[in-house]
Amino acid sequence: MGQKKQIAIIGCGTIANAQHIPAYLKNDGCEIKYFCDIIPERADEMVKKYNCGKAVYDHHEILDDPDLDAVSICTPNKAHSEIAINFLRAGKDVLCEKPAARIYEQALEMQKAQHETGRILNIGVVNRFNTAVNHIKKLIDKGELGEVYHVYVSFRSHRSIPGLGGAFTTHEIAGGGSLIDWGVHFLDIVMYCCGDPKPLTVTGETFSKLGCDMKNYVYTDMWAGPPKYDGVYNVEESVTGLIRTTGPVITLNGAWAQNIFEDEMYIDFIGDKGGIRLHYGQDFKLYTTKNGALFESTPTYQTRNHFQNEIDAYIRCIQTGEKLPSHIDTNILTSRMMQAIYDSAEAHREINLQ
Ligand SMILES: NC(=O)c1ccc[n+]([C@@H]2O[C@H](COP(=O)([O-])OP(=O)(O)OC[C@H]3O[C@@H](n4cnc5c(N)ncnc54)[C@H](O)[C@@H]3O)[C@@H](O)[C@H]2O)c1
Repeated sequence: MGQKKQIAIIGCGTIANAQHIPAYLKNDGCEIKYFCDIIPERADEMVKKYNCGKAVYDHHEILDDPDLDAVSICTPNKAHSEIAINFLRAGKDVLCEKPAARIYEQALEMQKAQHETGRILNIGVVNRFNTAVNHIKKLIDKGELGEVYHVYVSFRSHRSIPGLGGAFTTHEIAGGGSLIDWGVHFLDIVMYCCGDPKPLTVTGETFSKLGCDMKNYVYTDMWAGPPKYDGVYNVEESVTGLIRTTGPVITLNGAWAQNIFEDEMYIDFIGDKGGIRLHYGQDFKLYTTKNGALFESTPTYQTRNHFQNEIDAYIRCIQTGEKLPSHIDTNILTSRMMQAIYDSAEAHREINLQ
């Protein structure tokens, strides 16, 4: 295996603490060398909390460290592309949280830097390392559903706008709302399970109806909160769209907040021989016919934390050069589709990507 790979965590907030750092600490092939955050106390606190690494407050300070092998970028979306490109050009490998970037153009610049440097650039589309998702992919690949001609995606919540007025709801920082934050995961699962088909045409509409009147937004709890009523709310909380691809047609309906009965978080893969409903982050059901009867089954299998799988695969690919399914070359299609949905919503017309 050789020497342990030296890792820097860039951005020491929620996802870094909940998933990336614990997963690196459980991997024998690496060590965390730096905790970097523009809020100095956050970086300092990491060193104390995890009893390892050194605190830095600006990622430029560590670009030239010859002993640093790779980074996890866990900053808000706005900073992804610049930081990723800086580390790639400094000869480091990069795992960048989803979405790749605020806008497609920046994701393309990241891909260009990856191609020019030959370093690793994986995007945090963690569901590609999820056990249920991989079982679905295998079933579709084996033809168990026949021709998958339509995939319906629902990522709708009754009340789940994150940190009203903060980074998630500020277009300049996040690049968008429910689509870029949640939709990226759902679209990526569809693309992965269906063999990364090419998007052909895209139609979308976005809505900002419930959160924009910040003071009157009624909710029970708020992740990434509390609300900042003097902050900005200029992203969509809900989105709908239709994407034609070289594979299935994808229709989607997503919302951080919608006046609906209960959360509807699932993907329906609809084939001419069978169908699958994946309950997001949970299990899936298979619907087929056999001997003139309708069959419904719920497969059971061993599972493992998909973030641990993602980080373990990242360390392995740093060691071996293996190309992972989360490579920027596959994720770039999701960036392109999301951008086209936003462009279509703005222009109120279909976008042709051919
Ligand atoms: N894969 C997933 O399921 C998942 C889940 C949650 C968040 N995310 C993604 O992770 C990213 C971070 O989200 P979060 O909820 O952890 O945010 P957060 O606000 O909790 O943490 C971000 C941290 O980055 C720091 N930061 C900002 N700019 C920086 C810079 N230039 N250099 C260094 N540090 C900087 C902030 O000070 C903050 O501590 C987002 O892109 C989000 O979309 C992914």
